[in-house]
Amino acid sequence: MINTKKIRKFFPAIQAGRTITNNAASTQIPVQLLDLFKKLVVQYDNVHRGQSEASLITTEKFEASYDTIAQFIGAPSRRNIILFRNDTEAINAVMYSLMTEFNDGDNVVTTFMEHNSNYVPWYGLSKEILSKFGINVECRIARFNKETGELDLDHLKSLVDEKTKLVCCTGASNFLGTKTPIKKIREIANASGYVQPDGQKKSYLLIDGAQVVPNIFVDVEDLDVDFLAWSFHKIVAPFGVGALYAKEELLSRMRPFLYGGDMIAEGKVSPEKVEYNVLPWKFTAGTPNILGTILSAEGLRLLVDFALGYPSIFGKYKYFMTGKKFERADVETAMKNIEGHEKMLISEALNILSMIPELDIYGPKDPGGRTSLVAFNYKHISPFEIAEGLKKLGVESRAGCHCATLAHHYYQLDPPASCRLSFYIYNNLRDVQKACLAVKKICSIISK
Ligand code: ALA
Repeated sequence: MINTKKIRKFFPAIQAGRTITNNAASTQIPVQLLDLFKKLVVQYDNVHRGQSEASLITTEKFEASYDTIAQFIGAPSRRNIILFRNDTEAINAVMYSLMTEFNDGDNVVTTFMEHNSNYVPWYGLSKEILSKFGINVECRIARFNKETGELDLDHLKSLVDEKTKLVCCTGASNFLGTKTPIKKIREIANASGYVQPDGQKKSYLLIDGAQVVPNIFVDVEDLDVDFLAWSFHKIVAPFGVGALYAKEELLSRMRPFLYGGDMIAEGKVSPEKVEYNVLPWKFTAGTPNILGTILSAEGLRLLVDFALGYPSIFGKYKYFMTGKKFERADVETAMKNIEGHEKMLISEALNILSMIPELDIYGPKDPGGRTSLVAFNYKHISPFEIAEGLKKLGVESRAGCHCATLAHHYYQLDPPASCRLSFYIYNNLRDVQKACLAVKKICSIISK
């Protein structure tokens, strides 16, 4: 299991005495990555753009980071991994890259559970972009069950047909906490009968993995997703790097999202024709976030190490800064340990919160069906007021719609907002108890 006592010592923000329960938005950075940043700047130079030793070393580390990221999610190789600024940009990249493949009458199916980053691009594509070119593409939205927080698979199935180019669904809701049944959604997408440009008969499946990859063991080959997007600032790395996994045949065929430097084949630019670089660099236009990429990959190595009980008493790591290839069994054990830890935390949160009369808790009742976040509202009190109250009691939460605006409207919440607590590997039961008992206290004060 997760040794939070040991892990907490590595996080300066936790050592500063903060009770951080806003981890679904962003996690904190461990001291190892701060130290690594300082170390890297000594040999810092641009990648693919210099002959200095510093440039060569940085390029090697940068490229190897793609391998680490691919191995973490079980992708065949670095050619499946494209890095962007964040999850939102990764999903937009899919939208812009596939844009010219849509036919008049096609549709995209998404859900009411989505973060805006997996709904608004498809709204924009259908209502603002392709419509201007006389191409009508419908954006269809599948319902979820308001009581259980589960995706209505029958409704989703009824929306998917032979005109569905793409099914876009979250892997875990950042408001309800619900883990969605990705394999069942895959089956629905597979059965659509849509004919893709390469002759394959199926709808593509894009999973927003923002709340999945940090918390749950992911194997993209087993899940058979076509696209998976996520951000590293929710996995102990600094802000600024998000990833897209995609099947290689798709990336090979798709138009680049951004055009410019380094995404072209060396020397292959003329007024008549431009040829593109090999994957993944075809999708890496302009100088990338080099240090962010290296820190993100090393962050994954550290996460796995933490979850496996490293560093040892001698300060040794199994993966961090070793360059060692991830063993799938280790990644699986590490992520299952994280899942187990989070299940313990969310069970405790649900136990305490469910005893508060008239507190509306969203999402599955079963802790096994959700990730380590819980959102709620109390009577007609503004969730912002509750978050302010929590702040006064030393608890960092988040009130708002969490960018899950469709889902908040679906519950007819006015304002469309809730208060949310979300936990990560460095949180312990005391954090959960402090946060939830603070909610209890605020509700009882408000009730008087
Ligand atoms: N989308 C992030 C959240 O859930 C920022 O808070």
